[in-house]
Amino acid sequence: MRIYKASDYKDMSRKAANILSAQIIMKPNAVLGLATGSTPIGIYEQLIEWYQRGDLDFSEVTTVNLDEYKGLSPGDEQSYSYFMRHHLFNFVNISRDRYFLPNGLELDCEKECTRYEKLIQSLGGVDMQLLGLGHNGHIGFNEPDIVFAKGTHCVDLTESTIEANKRFFATAEDVPKQAYTMGIKTIMRAKKILLVVSGEDKAEILREVVAGPVTPQVPASILQLHNDVTLVADQDALLLL
Ligand code: F6R
Repeated sequence: MRIYKASDYKDMSRKAANILSAQIIMKPNAVLGLATGSTPIGIYEQLIEWYQRGDLDFSEVTTVNLDEYKGLSPGDEQSYSYFMRHHLFNFVNISRDRYFLPNGLELDCEKECTRYEKLIQSLGGVDMQLLGLGHNGHIGFNEPDIVFAKGTHCVDLTESTIEANKRFFATAEDVPKQAYTMGIKTIMRAKKILLVVSGEDKAEILREVVAGPVTPQVPASILQLHNDVTLVADQDALLLL
């Protein structure tokens, strides 16, 4: 695992955006795996700025997102589809038929998970997967468990994730209780992984992820076994490493 130390959130965002943009420049038709949440927002802002300056071209890029709430339509302001359009897709020249998320409106879990997994395979796999880190060590919505989840699947969200995500909803009751997520196997198949972490509140879990045992109780710890992981974290997140 390569570790880049950033001075603060802005510096982390810029360093990580540099790595993603290098991927796009080296391979204009790259398949990028994308994440939502607060951590990547600064990265997307930076990519938009570089696109607007004429330094980046998304016309041949394809993206697949990690996850989506089950039951929410793409038009729902809390859906990850809405998030991606409002934080990235609407501001760059990615074509509508080249970005993909799990379909929250498909209520048949098996059908949707099989479709999404096949879609990723049909694109030739993910060249670079961007990941944020949950306070409990989750990546995507792969929550702590007794085994590592495999392919794309439907999950019941844990109380801690519902608690963390309720800031985006009117009340905790409004947070959907289930989501579709790429599995650990799907994530580990990505050719390169870019993990971004910011803030002192993530320092303890980041130490476990990087230096603790590989265990499904800390899902992101599996990244120790991937041969091309880059971690960009600010100094607050790296406090215990
Ligand atoms: C989002 C996702 C989640 C987040 C994680 C961290 O698509 O897959 O695993 O990356 O919950 O969220 P933030 O960045 O809001 O701390």
